[in-house]
Amino acid sequence: MTGMLDAWLDELALIGGNGRAVNRFAWTPELLAASRWLVQRLHELGLEAEIDPAGNVLGRWQAGDGPAVLVGSHLDTVPEGGRFDGALGVLSALEAIRRLKDEGFEPAQPLWIAAFNDEEGTRFGTTMFGSAAFVGDDQAELRDRVSTDGVPLSEAMRAAGFDFDLVPRACLIGSVGCYLELHIEQGPRMELQRMDTAVVTGIVGVRGYRVELRGETNHAGTTPMENRRDALAGASRVVLALRDAALSAGDITVNVGRIDVQPGGTNVVPGTAVFFVDARAADPQRFASLDALVRECVGTAAAQERLTIEISPTHEHPPTPMDPALQQLLGDEMRAAGLTWGELSSGAGHDAQVLARHVASAMLFVPSQGGISHSPDEFTPSEQREPGVAVLTAALRKLCSTQRP
Ligand code: GLV
Ligand code: MN
Ligand code: MN
Repeated sequence: MTGMLDAWLDELALIGGNGRAVNRFAWTPELLAASRWLVQRLHELGLEAEIDPAGNVLGRWQAGDGPAVLVGSHLDTVPEGGRFDGALGVLSALEAIRRLKDEGFEPAQPLWIAAFNDEEGTRFGTTMFGSAAFVGDDQAELRDRVSTDGVPLSEAMRAAGFDFDLVPRACLIGSVGCYLELHIEQGPRMELQRMDTAVVTGIVGVRGYRVELRGETNHAGTTPMENRRDALAGASRVVLALRDAALSAGDITVNVGRIDVQPGGTNVVPGTAVFFVDARAADPQRFASLDALVRECVGTAAAQERLTIEISPTHEHPPTPMDPALQQLLGDEMRAAGLTWGELSSGAGHDAQVLARHVASAMLFVPSQGGISHSPDEFTPSEQREPGVAVLTAALRKLCSTQRP
């Protein structure tokens, strides 16, 4: 039984999709169209639904009393992303609610669904903007954060019909009791260990930085090699130093996924290099040490190439354990369904780590074919999605059958 999930995945992939990759970024027409599409699906199921002031889609099955059980994920993507990261979690939640409605289930407490805005941070380098607004984080400093296409966040919001000053109104965490999120694993472990599903034990800590190195723009042919102040040479040293540090540490990851070199002439010594560092560790002490590591690698490279440095943290999410009781509940449902399942930590960041600072939160994974993700090739076939959807449905049924304080 796949219900509506296959059809919904296909329809959603067309919004911001080019037949292969999907591009849906914060405050763009593509993400707004996907959000409106979801609001329609929620209305069809009889839920109250709206796009909130932070751009999150929020659907409410307003039943029973007490704090809501919230289930969700995100609809935005990385550049040239796949069809499943985030979207599968949202649509599995939608399908679970459809099944519960179909069987005549009456929740003993409200059941809400969220598609959080800008989980990936693709356009503004923010990451988890929507869930942070939902839990009431003060994000005022992001007002003038400039996008990859040169637009301040508050202006991008205005162009999309939103008001940055109203973002705090998206805070509804006080009405929520717990949070569940289904996601693709995004790595190879489930496939290697032949797991149908996995309970997530905790989510990696993530730090992001924007680094600007400045040297001297000059002529490519006439400037003596030993006199150059080449910003790209400095950035290259940083990339390699970070990679070597991560390889020797063994329990951290470091990535530079975007770099912009100015002025960008093939016959010009690069005067400026701006790049973004993504550094991660699951262990809290390791996580704490990442800041010094990044600054040291940048500092050493800049000194070697005689460059000036501007380094600005863009986001920070500490390592986050998932709620033990909810992990147990998910494991029990997997066992009851006769699945081959295990426990895994997440090397990817998720909205669940923002929610977990406030309410009991948990995640379950389904496999990613070939361990590929953040790529148009990410794929989880229908038969590998279904066990996760069934467990999610059963867990929601159980959570909404009893009153929680
Ligand atoms: C989100 O996908 C992240 O791990 O950066
Ligand atoms: Mn992602
Ligand atoms: Mn995701």
